[in-house]
Amino acid sequence: MSVARMPVPAEDAQAVSQDLCAALRKEIRAVGDLSFARYMELVLYEPGLGYYSAGSRKFGEGGDFVTAPEISPLFSRCLARQCAQVLAAIDRDKKRTVLELGAGSGRMAADILAELSALDCLPDRYLILEVSADLRDRQQARLAADMPGYFPSIEWLVDFPASPVHGCIVANEVLDALPIERFIISDGELLQVMVGLEDDHFCLRSREMPANLASRVSDRLSLPVAKYSPGYTSEFCPALGPWVASVASCLEEGMLLFTDYGLVRADYYHPDRADGTLMCHYRHRAHDEVFFWPGLQDITAWVEFSALAEAAGDCGLELAGFTTQAHWLLSLGLDQLVAQSVAGDRKDQVELAQQVKTLTLPGEMGERFKAIAFTREMDIALHGFAMRDFSDRLPQ
Ligand SMILES: C[S@@+](CC[C@H](N)C(=O)[O-])C[C@H]1O[C@@H](n2cnc3c(N)ncnc32)[C@H](O)[C@@H]1O
Repeated sequence: MSVARMPVPAEDAQAVSQDLCAALRKEIRAVGDLSFARYMELVLYEPGLGYYSAGSRKFGEGGDFVTAPEISPLFSRCLARQCAQVLAAIDRDKKRTVLELGAGSGRMAADILAELSALDCLPDRYLILEVSADLRDRQQARLAADMPGYFPSIEWLVDFPASPVHGCIVANEVLDALPIERFIISDGELLQVMVGLEDDHFCLRSREMPANLASRVSDRLSLPVAKYSPGYTSEFCPALGPWVASVASCLEEGMLLFTDYGLVRADYYHPDRADGTLMCHYRHRAHDEVFFWPGLQDITAWVEFSALAEAAGDCGLELAGFTTQAHWLLSLGLDQLVAQSVAGDRKDQVELAQQVKTLTLPGEMGERFKAIAFTREMDIALHGFAMRDFSDRLPQ
């Protein structure tokens, strides 16, 4: 979509973006062109100015995107059922914990806790690691209202927990926010995409890719670099390994579960996927203009699940399952939950049917989104992967 037809941000939001642009220009003038990962880190996370660090709305109406837990509580209720299986397998003398990474509006936490309460399986504590102060306030307001009795057992963190987790670590649509490096193949060479300035305007430039990055990229590609068509563009996430290592180090016993959009390596770097997966989201419009109001729009890239499986394996975690969102939800009893919920009036039923379609149809979220789980010190077959498990498509 052309950015010329995008809604114009409010004046106070424009001022935040202008301050961020000034900080970006200052850094470029001081150190030279920025790698794309550094640009993404600044526009998403620069304290007080970045998309996740400042106060833009992000979710729901007037926000920029909608996630599965925002579409339907059915998503979080299924997720809760998966957590219940894991929590039930942990000794009662341990502090049974759910740690949610990046809790957005807090809706997923509220729906997970409501379902765990209905299943009589509430954890001893529910931890939320949230980098956005604004979202943290919204989560606290929602959970204080929705779960008043349990609220004292919910704890917010700004960093990974010091005490080990016995239980579940879950994250929906968080991995796609990690900064990525972009590359272009030109004349059979790998070039790194950089962000520079031309007459004070931001621009994309490319330079020869440093050897350490180039070897990491060529190891991932399905074909030798020279066989890709000129202009082939894609990305990879150098931050993934260190981030997964930090998450994995928190888990002493239990499950680590990620749900997100993404692909296995062969599909991610398929020669036909010539423009990569980078996407910007602003007020429910998806586009690829990375310099559109820096700090006011989300920038994301799809998750490369093979790299995730490798990173988790390096930390001693066991791959416990990998499947599409549709198969995962159905394995966790989506159809039973729907059958229990159809008592409402006709309008409610139509809404419910629409939610199920959005969550499961292949052209919607059903195939593009995947669920992947890892375990430590836990030898159980996770219910979420009972129907289909595509783990054989990942490095073991
Ligand atoms: C796209 S939202 C998803 C929110 C929620 N999980 C949902 O599905 O509705 C991304 C969330 O991850 C948080 N986040 C972004 N980067 C993060 C990071 N490096 N560590 C932890 N949380 C992060 C954001 O503040 C936000 O809450």
